[in-house]
Parts: sequence; structure tokens; C-alpha cells
Amino acid sequence: MQEEPRPWASLVVPDAVARIPNMLTREEQQYLIWVTSALRRGSGAVVDLGPWLGCSSAALAEGVRRSGGGVRVQSLDLFEWRRDYMEGYCPADLPEGSDFRPLFREQTAAYSDTIDAERMDLLAGTWRGGPIEILFVDAAKSWDLTNAILRVFGPSLVPGESLVVLQDFKHMPTFWLPLVFDSRPDLWEELHDLASGDTATYRLRAPLDAAAGAEADFSKDSFRAEQVVEIFSRRLERPGGRRIGLSYYRALLTYDQFGRAEELLAKLLSAASPQELARLENSAKKARWAWRDEGLQPLWGAIQTGELDLADRIATAFELAEEPRGMVAIGRIAQLRGDHRLALDWFERAQAGGASIDHSVVMFQATSWVATRQFDAATRAIVDLLLSEPALPKDQRTWALFILRDCWRTQRNAEVALTSCARLLERHPDSPEILVFASMVARECENPQRADQLLGRARVLDPGNAETKWMFE
Ligand SMILES: C[S@@+](CC[C@H](N)C(=O)[O-])C[C@H]1O[C@@H](n2cnc3c(N)ncnc32)[C@H](O)[C@@H]1O
Repeated sequence: MQEEPRPWASLVVPDAVARIPNMLTREEQQYLIWVTSALRRGSGAVVDLGPWLGCSSAALAEGVRRSGGGVRVQSLDLFEWRRDYMEGYCPADLPEGSDFRPLFREQTAAYSDTIDAERMDLLAGTWRGGPIEILFVDAAKSWDLTNAILRVFGPSLVPGESLVVLQDFKHMPTFWLPLVFDSRPDLWEELHDLASGDTATYRLRAPLDAAAGAEADFSKDSFRAEQVVEIFSRRLERPGGRRIGLSYYRALLTYDQFGRAEELLAKLLSAASPQELARLENSAKKARWAWRDEGLQPLWGAIQTGELDLADRIATAFELAEEPRGMVAIGRIAQLRGDHRLALDWFERAQAGGASIDHSVVMFQATSWVATRQFDAATRAIVDLLLSEPALPKDQRTWALFILRDCWRTQRNAEVALTSCARLLERHPDSPEILVFASMVARECENPQRADQLLGRARVLDPGNAETKWMFE
């Protein structure tokens, strides 16, 4: 483990690298130039996984040039524009999902003879470029991506030679990287830990694909809580170790170590400077939100299998009552227990919470309005949803129409039902489900001719006519 001095710290980053929009610190840029110029022996490929607009590729290419060339940096990325996290760093105004390779090429033009860019989904990647000497990874954004990268590129790493530079090592959302790498000191030797930014570098000690190599099937279950505590607390105690603090906090939440997580956060906050405090609190909040996303999955699983007591326990453990999507789930639990007033209360709170809530909450709400005989509110909400939502999936549309059917059957307000049908047909004239619903209402309003006509049209549009049966049950 190398401590000071940091030989890369005095290196000048040329403008052709520094001016490329990027998510790296200056030290990370210096380091990438240094690692390819000072440490490279020319024994294999230099690979950049997740280069985005190419700052990392350009820095690696600059180092390759300074050390006499001989290889081209292999830059592999999805190259699909994601507004949510890319636009903040580069206001390119590209459509969501668009190919941003032209922008990459433009930004890295000064190194075009030293960089090859290839579009690749690393979840299903391939590598046929032979031994890899330097693997820079800024794409290990999930357990699955980490596993896929280890599986595809791991066998081409050479023990005693290859360096893996992990840009996300101390990044809170990718808290598994210290677990994966530090849990196997027999495989990985830590070489560098940058002072600014999240990067750490490891050298491979033994073949990854051998019997005792990395399993490359890592998940939360690969580690025990005590192991997590051991790995992170060792890092935390090192000089400058507080930089791993939020990843440790995030990991403790995932491993249900809530008491320890609280204690750690209190310690981190008390050691923070006034300038750091707001950033730290904000990141800790983000860590809790990301952890809640994990909690929502088992919660909905428990709701769907009717294990409502388990669902309650998960909701409490994950403090989901503070999170709008969690509030929806708690409302659904109340609804399934038949407490519709409480359910409505939670749905309302969720909506007031302001998070983007999908249309199922409107459906849940309408279900409870029907159960509490608030038919007008239910009808209005469902009709509005169907009118405003062209892309409602077929099963959801059917579900919405079931609710309308319940309103109609219980309330028997012909005027409301016929007006709703007319508005829905005008908006969705070719929807077999809506035609069937309108046909049923017409029949029950003593208009058999109109009913036959609507049903006939539904049958033409949907010859299997699976939809007709349910509406008349
Ligand atoms: C944080 S950005 C990289 C920042 C960049 N290294 C820099 O220096 O500014 C993450 C990159 O990973 C890429 N990425 C995410 N998921 C991917 C996948 N499944 N396959 C390939 N690339 C992926 C994104 O397109 C993005 O360019």
C-alpha cells in the first residue's frame, strides 16, 4: 500500500484532457495519465470501461503517448445519453437514450489515433483483446455490472501485472466494491488510494478464473454483516479513512445494522467541518433513500403474497412511512386489511409527498373510494386517468374499467356512466376493453342495438375476445 508521496500529484494535466466534461477530480485525471505513463510496461491492453465523454480515455491515452505508445485505449460504453445524471455535467441537450458517440469523438479528437471507442452493454459484454495491463472501471454501478465486468475482463488480467483502477471504490452507491476487493487479499493487493475522488487501484495477485478465484456472482448474500463491519472499519481507521464513511453507512443499512449505522453517522457528523456538514447530511439522506429502494421490493413481494404482518415489519424497519412510495405500500396494506379510510389517508399523504407516483396509486385510491361509497370521486379519477394516460398497459386499463363497472353497478347513475363512456370512446375509439365496457353499459341502459354495435366492433378489433367475458361476469 503506497502512502505519500504521490508521484502523480505534480503532473500537469494538458488542456486537451482537462477541458472534456467529466465526473473526475483533478487528482484522478493526473493519476490516469501517471498510471499509463509511469507504471505501464507494455504487456497488454489499456481498457476504459464507462468513459462517458472520454476524459478518462483521453487521460489514459495521454499517458500511453508519453510512454511511447504501442497500444490504443479501448473505450467501451453503452454511449446512451441519460439526462438525469449526465446533463448536470454537460448540458448537451441530447434526447434521452440517444447515441452520444459523436460527442465522445469530438471531445477526444486530440487523441483519435490512440483511442478506439466501441458501443457495448457491459452486462452482456465480450473481450477478445488479449491480456489487459490496465483496466479502468467507472461502470461497476450495480452488483450485476460488477459481476459481469469481473466475468468478462477478469480472465484477461495477468497475476502480478494487471492493475484494476476502480473509480467508484469510495463512492457511496457502489458500497460493494470495498467488500468484493478487500474480502480477498489473496487475490487483490491494494496499490493506491487517491486523496481526492473515489478512486483506488488494485493489482491482481492470482488468476481470477482459477478454482480459488473470484466467484463473479457477488450479491448482498456473499457477505456477512460482521465481515462488512470488519472490512469497512479497518478502512475507516486509516489516515483519511473518513472518505469511506458514507459507503460504510450505506452498507450497514443494507446489512440491517441500523444501530451501528446511526452511531457511525453521528461520529461522521461530529467530525465534519462546518463546510462538510451539509454535504454529508445530504449524502446520508441519499444513502437512506437508495436503501429504501431495496426495501420496497421485498415489501411489495410480501403484499402480493398476502404476508401483511411481514410487510408491516419491513415498512417499519425501512422507515417507509417517510417515503411517498412507501406510503402507497402502507396504504395498500391497510386496504387489503379492509381499512379503507386509513388506506385513503395514506394515499393522500403519498400524493402530498410529491414524489412521482405511478397510476396504480390512483387505482388503489379509487378502489377504496368505491368501498367507502364515494362513487363520484372514483369515477372521476378513473375516467381522468384513462383520458390522460394513452399508454396505460392493457391489464391496468382492464383493472381501471373494473372499478368503473363497480361504480356503475352499485350507483346505477346512467347519466354519469353514459357520459363517461362517450368521453372514453372519443379518446380511445379502438380500445376493445373500453368498447366492451361501453357495450355493457348500453345494454344495461336498455339500448341493445348500440350494445351489439359496440360489441361487434370490439370483436373485430380483438377476435380472441378475451375481454368480453369478464365484463359481464
Ligand atoms: C459515471 S459515468 C463515467 C464518467 C467518466 N468515466 C468520466 O470520466 O467522466 C458512467 C458511464 O458508465 C456507462 N455505463 C453505464 N451502464 C453501462 C453498461 N451497462 N454498459 C456500458 N456502459 C455503461 C454510462 O454510459 C456512463 O458513460
